[in-house]
Amino acid sequence: MKMMRRALLPLRAFLGGTVLSLTAWLQARVRHKLGLPTRGTPDERTAVQDDIKRRTALRGGLIAAATTAVGVAAGSALALARRPVTSPRDSASTGPVIAAAADIAAGSAKPFTAPNGAPAYLLRPTPDTFLAFNATCTHQGCPISYVGPGFRCPCHGSTFDENGQVTGGPARASLIEIPVKVIDGQITIA
Ligand code: FES
Repeated sequence: MKMMRRALLPLRAFLGGTVLSLTAWLQARVRHKLGLPTRGTPDERTAVQDDIKRRTALRGGLIAAATTAVGVAAGSALALARRPVTSPRDSASTGPVIAAAADIAAGSAKPFTAPNGAPAYLLRPTPDTFLAFNATCTHQGCPISYVGPGFRCPCHGSTFDENGQVTGGPARASLIEIPVKVIDGQITIA
C-alpha cells in the first residue's frame, strides 16, 4: 500500500500543478476577453479582479470536476487490476454433467457422449459407486456394448468387467476410464 501511495505522488503533483496552471490560464483568458484595463483607480481594479475571480471559479469548478472524474476512473482501473482473477477453468472445474444420480439405478449403465465426442458408458455398480468408461474396445476399436454387469465387444468377442478390466480376449488392455464425481446429486466429468 505504501509503495502504491509513493507511486501515486508524482501523479498527484502533476494533477495539482495542472490545476494551478489551468487557473492562471483561465484568469489570463478572462482578463483578455474583458479587455482588462491595466490602469485605473484601486476600486476599479478590485471590481475587475472580483469579476475575474468569479468567472475563473466557475470554469475552474468545471475543470476540477473533470479532473476528479479522471482520478476516480484511474482509481477504478487500479482496483480492477488488483482484483483476484477467476479463470473460466475455475468456474467450470466441475465439468459437464452426465446425468442425475437419481436417473441411473444401482446395477445398471447409461450410454453418453464424452466431451471429446466418443461414445461412453456411465455405470452404477453399487448404490454409492459411479464409474464411466470409453465405449471403444481396446483390441481393434469396435464399439462395445453393456451386457451387465460388464461389457462385450461384438467384433472378436472380448469381454470386460464392470471395472473395465479384461475378462476375455483377444483384447489385452483395460477400457479407458473417464473420471467422474457426484456433486449435488449430479454426476459430472471430474
Ligand atoms: S475389436 Fe473388440 S475384440 Fe476385437
